[in-house]
Amino acid sequence: MNIIEIQNKIISEKIKLKNKSKNHLSNFKNIEKYIKKEVELIKRFENSIIPEIEFKNILIENERTINEKVLKRGCVIIRNVFGEKKMKDLNKNLDQYVLENNYFEDQKKKIGIDKYFSELKSGKPQIFGLYWSKAQSEIRHSQEMEKVKKWLNNLWNYKYKDKSVFDPNKELVYADRVRRREPGDDTLGLSPHCDAGSIERWTDNAYQKIYNDIFSDNFENYNPFDAKYRDETIEFESPAVAHVFRTFQGWTALTEQGPNDGTLQLIPIAKGMAYVLTRALLDDVPENELCGSKAGKALSINEKYHSLLLKGLISIPKMYPGDTIWWHPDVVHAVEEKHLGKTFSNVVYVGATPYCKKNINYIKKQSKKFIEGKSPPDFAAEDYEVNYKGRTKINDLSELAKKQLGLIDWN
Ligand SMILES: [Fe+2]
Repeated sequence: MNIIEIQNKIISEKIKLKNKSKNHLSNFKNIEKYIKKEVELIKRFENSIIPEIEFKNILIENERTINEKVLKRGCVIIRNVFGEKKMKDLNKNLDQYVLENNYFEDQKKKIGIDKYFSELKSGKPQIFGLYWSKAQSEIRHSQEMEKVKKWLNNLWNYKYKDKSVFDPNKELVYADRVRRREPGDDTLGLSPHCDAGSIERWTDNAYQKIYNDIFSDNFENYNPFDAKYRDETIEFESPAVAHVFRTFQGWTALTEQGPNDGTLQLIPIAKGMAYVLTRALLDDVPENELCGSKAGKALSINEKYHSLLLKGLISIPKMYPGDTIWWHPDVVHAVEEKHLGKTFSNVVYVGATPYCKKNINYIKKQSKKFIEGKSPPDFAAEDYEVNYKGRTKINDLSELAKKQLGLIDWN
């Protein structure tokens, strides 16, 4: 679709969505009231609002009271998934991979290929276009991660009369990048956004079904953890937009990092997307616009339209090597503008991508890239690692890893 076609689509879909409600302004006001209350709670309990659980407790039945909190907040910290020593070793390993292969020289030559983050206010972050280092593979394919992801996937409603949307116990692996943020960095960050589609959230048929309760005055019944139709969304073709269904996005901390160390920020409201969706239907937003969101870019959350929601943006608490953070694909997130700490704040991005048709389709394409050592299909084709020493090859993989990468069948 060209720009004119996209704008026409926005105009017609907005009319359709407004008509789902008896009164789209009062529908928005109702949602706004809920968000206001949640923002107050976040401000009051800022340091404890994000649910936390120890890795060793995730499979213990009497710890299950945490589930309710995760479903409400749309995020969770799982601590001590890996030991500190292991993380230190992997961090060093990753460091060597970057330096021995002259990543920084390569990167200078390829600046501008990654257009995804170019529209976000803070510019290009210190996120590395590396996918296949041993450190990343070891974390992604570990037994620990397998347990964590099963637990996370099972928090969703995925079984319906006619079908199961996904298999929560068979995990695929979505190769993503690493963040290595230098101490003192004060120019790079990521402004608030969501990744799994921008204008699609209003215009795509499956997204309209997912959000139907929100648009049709039924916000109270909307459940962000209903997986129905989540595997059927179709994103605009664009490099670096996620074409998989993730039950949770997430990362694993390689180094200690707390607030002000250039860390992650979240708006811990699982139903927060309802505010963004209905806000775009109000009369002060031009008919061919969606509060600043653009096709093929991250969904933008900004002061002009979303100031109330942004009041709920908080930095996550201090993370230690081996801790992991997970957030629902609709949860607004950002990376702090400034890193005022004294050491690198490094993370490996690992999301949860359960076995379903949409993810299998992607994994098949991704596995070809893995074999060649190229950037995965969702990311800018920077292809740094083709000739890198120490890159993960097929012979380095366990049977579980091969299943997770779609190189052998799960069944
Ligand atoms: Fe993101």
